[in-house]
Formats: sequence, C-alpha cells, structure tokens
Amino acid sequence: MIPRPARRRWCTALAAILAGLLGACAQISADRFSRSGVPGIVAGEPGFAGGVVSVSHPLAAEAGASVLRTGGNAIDAAAAILFALNVVEPQSSGIGGGGFMMIHLRDGDRTLVVDSRETAPAAATADMFAGMDFRQASTSGIAVGVPGMLRGIELALDRWGSIPLAQALAPAIALARDGFTINTDLARRTGLPRTALQPETAARFRRKDGSPLPEGHRLVQPELARTLALVAAQGSEVFYRGEIARAIVAAQRRSPIGETGRGRMTLDDLATYRPRIRAAVEGNYRGFTLRSMPPPSSGGLTLLMMLRLLEPYPIGGDGDGWGFGGRHTLHLMTEVMRIGFADRAVWMGDDDFVPVPAAGLLSDCFLSARGALLAVDARMMNAPEAADPWPCQRHGAMRDDGTTLAVHDEEKGIDTTHFTVVDHEGNVVSFTATIESAWGSGITVPGYGFLLNNELTDFNLVPRANPASGNPGSNDVAPGKRPRSSMAPTMVFRNGELVLAYGSPGGATIINSVLNTTLNLIDHRMSLQQAISAPRLSVTSPAGTIQCEEGLPQASLDHLARLGHEFRLDAGGTRCTANIGSVQAIAVEPERARQHGAADARREGTVIGLP
Ligand code: GLY
Repeated sequence: MIPRPARRRWCTALAAILAGLLGACAQISADRFSRSGVPGIVAGEPGFAGGVVSVSHPLAAEAGASVLRTGGNAIDAAAAILFALNVVEPQSSGIGGGGFMMIHLRDGDRTLVVDSRETAPAAATADMFAGMDFRQASTSGIAVGVPGMLRGIELALDRWGSIPLAQALAPAIALARDGFTINTDLARRTGLPRTALQPETAARFRRKDGSPLPEGHRLVQPELARTLALVAAQGSEVFYRGEIARAIVAAQRRSPIGETGRGRMTLDDLATYRPRIRAAVEGNYRGFTLRSMPPPSSGGLTLLMMLRLLEPYPIGGDGDGWGFGGRHTLHLMTEVMRIGFADRAVWMGDDDFVPVPAAGLLSDCFLSARGALLAVDARMMNAPEAADPWPCQRHGAMRDDGTTLAVHDEEKGIDTTHFTVVDHEGNVVSFTATIESAWGSGITVPGYGFLLNNELTDFNLVPRANPASGNPGSNDVAPGKRPRSSMAPTMVFRNGELVLAYGSPGGATIINSVLNTTLNLIDHRMSLQQAISAPRLSVTSPAGTIQCEEGLPQASLDHLARLGHEFRLDAGGTRCTANIGSVQAIAVEPERARQHGAADARREGTVIGLP
C-alpha cells in the first residue's frame, strides 16, 4: 500500500466517519427536483413533445431536426447528424473514425450501444509504436485503426431506423457540395499543425498561402460530397470492399517517420470489420440509475467508480465548503479522479481480449478500500497506484497485503464530438463519435476528402503486460483489438424511466466532463443549461495536475493549492483558462411527456425542439 503519514491516517478515519454522518443527513432523493422529479428541469419550462436535438453545430442540428420533422426517429436523426458533423466538424469525427451510439428504445425500454470503435489491423503488434513519441505515432499511418463508423450507422439504421442510408446522407452531401460558412471553432482549429502535414489536408483546410482558414470562410468539400454520394448509391460495401477501401489502404501507408510509421491495414481488415452491439454498464447514484459506456471504453466504469466514491459526501450540501465550487467539493472531485484514473490505467481495455474486472471495480468491497484513501482536509501525498479488484470480484474481499500496481501515464489526443437526440416517441440516442486527435492522423484520403483517425494511439504506446507485477496489459495493442476509449455517452433513469442523456468530447477529460455535469444536475440541482455552462475541473492522471476553467471560486482554488494540489494554469500561472469538453444534453419528463435540451457554448452547441 502507499505509505501515508500517521496524521493522514487519522484524517482519513475521521473524515470517513464524518462523511458517513454527513452523507446520511444529505441523502438526496429525486423529490428535491421539480415536481416531476427530473434533474435539470426548471419548473414551468414548457419543453417540447415532437423531439429535441442537441448538437455541437447548428447545421448538423438542423440536419437531425429535418429528419425528425419528416417523421424519422431518433436513430434516423442521429445518422443524419453524424454525417453532417463529418462535413461541418471534419476535425472531430466522421466515416474515417468510429464511436459509440447509445440507444434507448421506448418499445421495451431497452438500452444498448452500437460500438463502431476502430480495430487494430491483423498485422498489428504490441510493440509497433516502439521508439515513437505520441506526435510521431499519431501523425503516421501506423496510428490509423480500421474505421467502424459507416458499418455502425448502417447496422443501427437497418435494425432500428426507418429511413434508408441514402436519406440520412442527403443533408451532409448538400453541405459538402454547396459549402458552408465556417465558425470560430473550426477556423481556430485549421491553425493546428496537423492541417499542414499532408498535402490533401492542407489543400482543403488551409489557405493557398498556408495560413489557417478565417472565420466566415465558405468551405466547399467536393471530394467528400462525391464520397458520401458514392456511399448513398452503393451502401457501405464501396467503403469496406470497393474503391474507397483501396484508397484508405494506400493512404494509411503515409508516414513522415519512414518505414516503421506505415500503417498495416489491409483490404481484408476493412472487409472483415464488424460493429458490435453491447449492453451498457449500469450503476446507481443518489437514487438514480446511470447507464454508460462499457469496455472497450473506460468511460462508464471510471465515471461510476468516481460517483460511488463521492456518494458518502454531502457534495450538494449547504454546509461550509460544500456545494458547487466549494473547497471540499473540488478537493474530493480531484481526489476521486486521481483514484479512478489509476485503476483505469491498469484494468480497463477491450474485454474481448483481456478480462476487465468490472464487477470488482464497482463492488462495495473495492470502493470502500479505495474510499479509505480520501480525506476531506488532506491530499493524497503520493500519486495513487492501481489496486487489485480481482479478489473483490472473486471472493468479495480485498487482498490483505494491499498490493498495488504502478501506473504509466501517456500523452493522448483531445477532441471528438457528442450529440443527443430524443424523438416524439421517446426513443433516445446519446452518441459520442471521434477520429481521436483534432484532425485525426492528419491524413485525408486522397480523392475522397475524409480524414483518417489516429485511434490506435489510444492503446498503450509501450506494452504494459507484466506477469511479475500482475499488470495484464489490458490496453496493449493486439490484432483485431479495440483501443481503450474514454467516451462516455450516458443516460440517467429514475424509477426505470429515462430522464436525462448526455456526453462530451475531450479525450480522457470526457469522463470528467460527464462527472461534472452529473454532479451539477443531481447534487447541485442546476438547470440543464447551467449544468453544462458551469466551469469544469478535470484531472486525468493519478499525479493529479488540475485543469480548470475560469469561474471556479478563487478561495476554493487557493485552498486546494494549500493542500498541495497542482494546477495547469495559463502562461502567467495565475488563472484557470482550460476549455474542457462540450456537453450536449436532453431531459425528459416522463409524466408530462415533455422534452428539453441544452447545448454547450464552448463549441457552437445548438438545440432544436419540435412542438
Ligand atoms: N479517442 C478518444 C476516445 O476514444 O476516448
């Protein structure tokens, strides 16, 4: 176990007793919310009945709303939004990548996830990134995973949609062919180095003199329009077995670092790609049931662990130091993120390849041991290591030798997109989609106008399997394996009925944006919009460097600094200036069948509701 000074042990014990007492007093039940008991709803808000879309870009929101208006369901609208986002947010997601489409079907009250996560090619090896740093690996074809998005959407439309693929593609084809005016966010991102690395990317997303595109520029993407039209005409086969497959295989041979950086994907890898349908991971928090993303994502498990670790504390209470931005609230959020990310690093990955001890990680047995590390008035002195949840999973007890495993942190990309839809029948889609880094690998498929992901750098760049230490290498590269994700499309249920759905982009910070939003809604009883707009705090490693957004109370941040927390601040070292996530949410009042939405101004979040 991590050595702790005696003083900290006392603090921990006292805090646990205190927290237990306070927690019992502060049990928050659903009736603290509006008459309907739905978090995020302001009493008297009229809401909508014909469906709501909440999307990070207005043109993609309109693509989804137009599908709902003409009788399409949430799955149809989600497909149209996803394709439109490929055009208007080309840096964040698209057919060159993958994602997780969480679906709640009103008929039968079923929740499931279409997993279109990219896979490692058959020729991938655990050591294939040897000698490369993140930037080298992530801008070379070796990082490109077999894209799953198109087959995932096609499967969802076939099973639960009501419109053909071509109809879902139509708004995106028009946007790519006719062009659209780029917003501040896209203009700024065209200045990222990744748009200048490959000629086809620079030709489309930079000006002729190499400078970034200005806000207001009209971006026309004829190659992408042609590609989407080809898919509309021929279905996904043209992408997975036809001319586009051949172009993808050739493009991922690009490598600025020579032979070792060339992608290993073959035509066979594309032809054999299959999306998966998965059950959500489920847990409870303060009387609500949350469903979120299971492995190969770490998103759901880490989120549920962190919430359960916070549950004994009066996070939303009125007491000194509690409530939104309170010093105890922020300190404990930081600490549970450090613990959650330690366990995530060692135990979470694609459980088709390495067993993930999901039940152990979420067990009372494990979480009470992990919770004993927390103290209201003291920071964990050392970065927490991962503890072993297998004994809890197998025998309901922790090992008494307190074995821990070292955690290795690695740089990863930060981008992705999230949107949420509810239709007039109450079907809901919460969809997080990605090409990993902003602009993915930076490689645009020549002649086809879409970017290839760099998802394989979500794997461990250095293999971690080690029988001596017990590290299973959960996220080491293997042929056909899906890299560990942080994506966490999430749904919240009250008495078995869906009341909230949301998610966020942001690499590993996704999990924390979803945590911040959940606490804002359930503990701090904010409106849906307040919960999204409120400044966020994020820690993505056990070492615990805090990223924070402007607007958190300075006195609380000063208190955290006194406890020994470290911050990633602006250049002057004085202010929180991070920009964390972009949450798109919907809420449903089951009794009144009223629907609500809120979106994030950190991008150009847009809500469209139908009467
Ligand atoms: N590439 C971002 C994620 O999957 O978490």
